[in-house]
Order: sequence, then structure tokens, then C-alpha cells
Amino acid sequence: TPLSHIRNFSIVAHIDHGKSTLADRLIQSTNTVAERDMKEQLLDSMDIERERGITIKANTVRIDYTAKDGQAYVLNLIDTPGHVDFAYEVSRSMRAVEGSLLVVDSTQGVEAQTLANVYQAIDADHEIVPVFNKIDLPASDIDRVAEQVEDVIGIDASGAIAVSAKTGEGIVETLEAIVTELPAPKGDPDAPLKAMLVDSWYDPYLGVVVLVRIMDGVLRKGDQIKMMQTGARYGVDRIGVFRPQMQNIDALGPGEIGFITASIKQVRDTRVGDTITHEKKGTDTPLPGFKPAQPVVFCGLFPVDSAEFEDLRDAIDKLALNDASFSFEMETSAALGFGFRCGFLGLLHLEVIRDRIEREYDIELITTAPSVIYHVYLKDGTQMDLHNPADMPDPSTVDHIEEPRIKATILVPDEYLGDVLKLCQDRRGIQLDLTYAGSRAMVVYDLPLNEVVFDFYDRLKSVTKGYASFDYQLEGYREDNLVKMSVLVNEEPVDALSMMVHRDRAEMRGRAMCEKLKELIPRHMFKIPIQAAIGGKVIARETLSALRKDVTAKCYGGDATRKKKLLEKQKAGKKKMRQFGKVDIPQEAFISALKMD
Ligand code: GTP
Repeated sequence: TPLSHIRNFSIVAHIDHGKSTLADRLIQSTNTVAERDMKEQLLDSMDIERERGITIKANTVRIDYTAKDGQAYVLNLIDTPGHVDFAYEVSRSMRAVEGSLLVVDSTQGVEAQTLANVYQAIDADHEIVPVFNKIDLPASDIDRVAEQVEDVIGIDASGAIAVSAKTGEGIVETLEAIVTELPAPKGDPDAPLKAMLVDSWYDPYLGVVVLVRIMDGVLRKGDQIKMMQTGARYGVDRIGVFRPQMQNIDALGPGEIGFITASIKQVRDTRVGDTITHEKKGTDTPLPGFKPAQPVVFCGLFPVDSAEFEDLRDAIDKLALNDASFSFEMETSAALGFGFRCGFLGLLHLEVIRDRIEREYDIELITTAPSVIYHVYLKDGTQMDLHNPADMPDPSTVDHIEEPRIKATILVPDEYLGDVLKLCQDRRGIQLDLTYAGSRAMVVYDLPLNEVVFDFYDRLKSVTKGYASFDYQLEGYREDNLVKMSVLVNEEPVDALSMMVHRDRAEMRGRAMCEKLKELIPRHMFKIPIQAAIGGKVIARETLSALRKDVTAKCYGGDATRKKKLLEKQKAGKKKMRQFGKVDIPQEAFISALKMD
């Protein structure tokens, strides 16, 4: 296909504004898939994505479209992940295309996440076509949304297309706009090969599949290629495009988007943003902007049943093969035994991996409190990265500690603004900006990442009844008065519950933690003190009183089935408990105890 007849684009949208539905419509209306093969939401391939209604892995599809000018065009849609955890992946996908459709639900308006992604599109010099979706709904208000897009994002909304991805209205107009409004890609077929590695994943039949965008040169089946960042060399086995099912072709030229397979063993060997060139006569200048994946949130994963440690190792090994941004190393905890300290791009990423281990591998897990990486400066002049509060050095050797900060953007209807400000303030936030777009406020806060990783998003949703949207980016490290708080149950420290806290908030957090644990830990035959401490100093304490009666005592000894049932129930309950010294702590305590309300 000549460059002038190619259009590459992505769709920028907030969750639920209709990105997948629109993509499906575009595919369907161009007969890219036969009607009977059309599954709901073709682009979201993983089960978990479908269940949660979020797009995690970038996907792509090639659409043939004969425009009103009578010419046949190739439209390549790259689907970008819609979550902040994957901001870097989004930025690479954006670099692989020339334009974006900005989908805004016309009954809702612009959301914080739309903003983050649209800024990425603007950064990538995209031509942006606004698409106002869901016009079939009575609450649709196109004028209001147009005004918002112009005010908040600052792009011209006069060419916006009114669409119902549900009824199909406006779909042809959208396809025409892609052809007429978005620029054709540029590239030189005779220059040395320069292709961007946009994404990669593991396919059970084909092995590692790599999504590429050709910038210059031509990539052919059988070519010997080199990944410039890793230096790895491969022979290209297969080249193809997605329609959306895979279709093999012989070559990809400039401006084209497709996949290759090359006997690559694991996804780990591919780096998003890497430049692929020919082994011989390749380019010397890689594409700019490559960044290695950097986990920002860490937590321990331990099997509830310690006999399942090897199964867990297996599951983690397998998941890591398919996810270059997930890191792990073995960890031993005095309380929890053998497990893994794992690093994630963010909380969603953590949840996805944890869910997959529990569901696909059927291993029950104890997840310890998520923690960020602290920079600990020691008095002897050295610095360490602290990934696990349990590894905190003796405070007397520490000079100072720095923590990561984020810049958070929150969009919220006016009436909830007060609650949002309070929440941010409570989490040690510093307000940077407050502006209005119609009846909604946009607040920008500088917040410590560790105050956000745990339950900030849940709290935000609950204080705003789900109306707030939230997005953040990492800003860097800053010194603060941080200490390690330990928790002792029955005088024994439970390392998995220790956490880094701000000194001024330690008493409050400690008290809340002890109270929570008192509710969560069942009573035993003896009295159990629950304490929070900094260094050797106890800052909060609760006492769980002793249980007097046997659980079966009230069964009058007579009813044997009832007694058996009770014992079984007790046993089932036990399974989710872990023993610490003489005390059984239920699995959920490790997460619940850390939630603040
Ligand atoms: P993520 O995949 O989570 O990012 O969401 P998305 O933006 O892809 O949204 P999706 O396409 O899943 O649509 C969200 C919901 O809106 C679904 O229930 C759709 O059926 C519905 N929806 C999408 N477009 C329209 C529309 O034009 N009209 C109406 N009434 N509903 C729509």
C-alpha cells in the first residue's frame, strides 16, 4: 500500500466511554469480520479485561476501507491500554500512529484519564478528531461536551463527530474523518530498517508475538533482525497483520503496522519501545524515548498454604515470561514463611497479577501491604533503595529518607470538591492548582505515592459516589520525616505488617491498625496484646480478651451433626489463617488492617 493510502490511529477515551464498542463498529462496518464471527468487544482479548471492562494489553487491527473518494485505504487501529499504570506503553503506542480519535461520552464529559491520554497524543504530535459518543441517550449534551473539550483540553471541537457506537450513527462519518483529517504516515522504503517494538505477548501456539510499526525500510519474512536495546538477534519466521485474526503476509513497509514472530523465547526478551533493525546494514540510530520498565509498587506474595510455595514459584515464573514489567525475587518472612517480593507498574497491575495467580493457578495468596521504593540515606554516606519495610536498617544508622511523590489530577463535580480536598489533605497532599470546567472542578495535588498506593482510589470513588476521575504521574523523590512502624501480636513482631509511615501520622495509623486487628483476629484461649511500635517504643495498643468457651460447648453435647458442622466450619476457617507464634491471624487481616477509613 502506498503511504498516502495508509492511516494509523489510536482511540483515546476514558473507561466506559465506548472505545471498544466504537472499535467493534468500525471493524464491523467495513466487513473486516464476517457478521457471524463478530464477538462482543473483539479487541479486549483477555478474560480479566472483559470481566473488569478494562483494556490492559494493546491490541491492533487492520481495516480496509473504500472511502467516498473511491480510493481504497488501509486503516490501522492500535488499541492503547486505558490505565495510568501503563502510561509508558500508551506513549509508545501513540508514537506508532499519526492521529487519534478522542472519544468522549456525551452524557458524561471529559475525565481526568481522558486528559492524561490526550496529552500523550498531543505530545506525539497527533492530529486529533473528537468523537462524541452515546448520542442515542437522552442525557447526551454535545454542546456542553464540545465546550468542555475546548476549555479543558484546548483543542478545536468544531469538527467533532456525533456518534452512537450502539446504533451505528456517525460511523461512516468517523471513517471518512480518519481518511480526510488524519495525516498519512511518512517513511523511506530505501532507508535502513527502523521498526518500533510497540508491544509483545505470548501466544500458546506461536510463542512470542511482537507488534511492530515500520518507520523506515522494509521488513521481510526470513530477514535477520537485531533488537537495538537488548542486542538480541533473531530470524523472522512470520510476518502478518490483524484483521483482527492473524493473517500472514510477506513484508511490511514504511507506515505499516503488523506482527512478527521470530523464535523469541520469552516476552521478557522484548522491550516495548525498542528499535528493530536488520542485523546487516541496519540503522545506527535507535528511535528516541526508550525506557526500561520500572516497577513502582512492591508487595510480598505468600501462599496461604506453605506447601504451595513451589506452585507459586511456577505460576510467577510463567506469568513473568509474558510480562516484562513485572519483577520478583524470593523473600522469606518470619511470619509468612517463603514467598516472593514482587514489583509492579502500579496497583492495577498488582491486582491483575494477583487475580491471575489465584484464578488461573488456583493458589490462595496472602498479599502484604503494597509499598513504594524509599531512598534511604545512611550516615556512612551510602544510599539504599528500600523495597520492603522489613529490610529497614537500624534507625540510628539512617541519616534521612526520601519518598516518591506524584502529581495527581482529579476531576470532580463541584458538590464533592470539599470531600476530595479533605481526602488529599489527609494524605499529606499539597494543592498545586484548582480550576473549573463548567460545573466540575479540576484539582491538581502533589501527593506522596505511598499514601495513594493502598486505597486512595477506592476512597476517592466512595467520597464522590463514583463521580471523580483520577490520574497521576510520578514526579520524583523528596525528603520527609518517615519511620518504620512495626506491629506486634502477642509480643511477637509480624514483619508482614510493618510499614513506613510519616512520623506525624504514626500514632493515628498505629491506633487504627491495632483496632482493626483486634476485630479481625479471632479470640483465643488466652489474652492477646496487639501493639504498634516505632523502634522499641510502643505507640498504640489494644488487647484481645480471652475466649472462655469451647465453640462446641453450646451444642449440649447431644447433636452430633451440628457439632460436626461446627468443627468443619472451624476447620475451613482455619485454612485461611496463618499461625504467628501461638496466634492464628486470618489472611484478610493483612490487607484489611492497612485500610484507613
Ligand atoms: P474500556 O474497555 O473499559 O476502556 O471501556 P470502553 O471505553 O471500551 O467502553 P465500552 O465500549 O466497553 O462501552 C462502555 C459501555 O457503554 C458499554 O456498556 C457499552 O455497551 C456502552 N456504549 C458504548 N457506546 C454506546 C453508545 O453509543 N450508546 C449507548 N447507549 N451505549 C454505549
